[in-house]
Amino acid sequence: MAFTDLKARQSVMWGNGPYERITNTIRDIHTLVVERLDPQPGEKMLDAATGTGAVALLAAERGADVVGMDLAPVLIDTARELAAERDLSVEFEVGDAEEMKYDDARFDVVASTCGIMFAPDHEAVASELARVTRQGGRIGLACWTPEGGLGQMFRMMGPFLPPPAPGVGSPFAWGREEHVRELLGDDFELEFEEHVSTLAVESGEAYWELFSSSYGPTKSATEALDEGRREEFRQTWVDFFEAMREGDEVVHPREYLLTLGTRR
Ligand SMILES: C[S@@+](CC[C@H](N)C(=O)[O-])C[C@H]1O[C@@H](n2cnc3c(N)ncnc32)[C@H](O)[C@@H]1O
Repeated sequence: MAFTDLKARQSVMWGNGPYERITNTIRDIHTLVVERLDPQPGEKMLDAATGTGAVALLAAERGADVVGMDLAPVLIDTARELAAERDLSVEFEVGDAEEMKYDDARFDVVASTCGIMFAPDHEAVASELARVTRQGGRIGLACWTPEGGLGQMFRMMGPFLPPPAPGVGSPFAWGREEHVRELLGDDFELEFEEHVSTLAVESGEAYWELFSSSYGPTKSATEALDEGRREEFRQTWVDFFEAMREGDEVVHPREYLLTLGTRR
């Protein structure tokens, strides 16, 4: 299997920190994807790269028969706890979007919000998405665009992150229509929507506190730096977001591409 070591590291990195604090900042995306896919009671649905299960839980509330799958065991544990708290039944399991263990055509509906875009092998993910979606089934993928607010944030973080492994596709390519057409266009009838999820926080410092404590990529990068570089990272982060100040808050617009498809 390609990228085995990288994915082993990623499964730890994504589970580093209480990710549920971060997923709360993209609730608007979860709601929109579930609205667009409109899962019906009894329909079989997959939330791929579910994280702490936000989309899976919303779909389960509508009565869908949901599987939530993610690479990070810690996040799956949290997702199970959240499902129990809400008295919802979802099959949460650890898995790899590049190599799913599901039968062909198992799902009526497949979703992923800011999720599968982070798997290194885009072609493998695309072929798995097509394989597990039944003919006539629906797919909905929300992915950050390269030029948008999250792309900019990752470019700001770049000097403080480990160098990208050779051959790994940029996650943000999933936010470009042409790339998604190349990956999925033969297997799905596709439509695209452009949206912005805007996050307002009280300060660049508050943004740093949230992400350096709770967002796997930022927290892991911080922990790998010595004290001097960590302080440089914090200052770079705070300055970057303070430049987005509007009155008494920092406003971060985060553009994303919503891909909607019907399996041919
Ligand atoms: C930014 S989080 C998004 C989680 C969730 N979909 C949400 O909306 O909050 C990205 C997720 O992708 C997962 N992920 C990354 N690579 C993966 C892979 N190869 N297979 C399955 N999940 C993966 C990570 O573990 C992480 O939970």
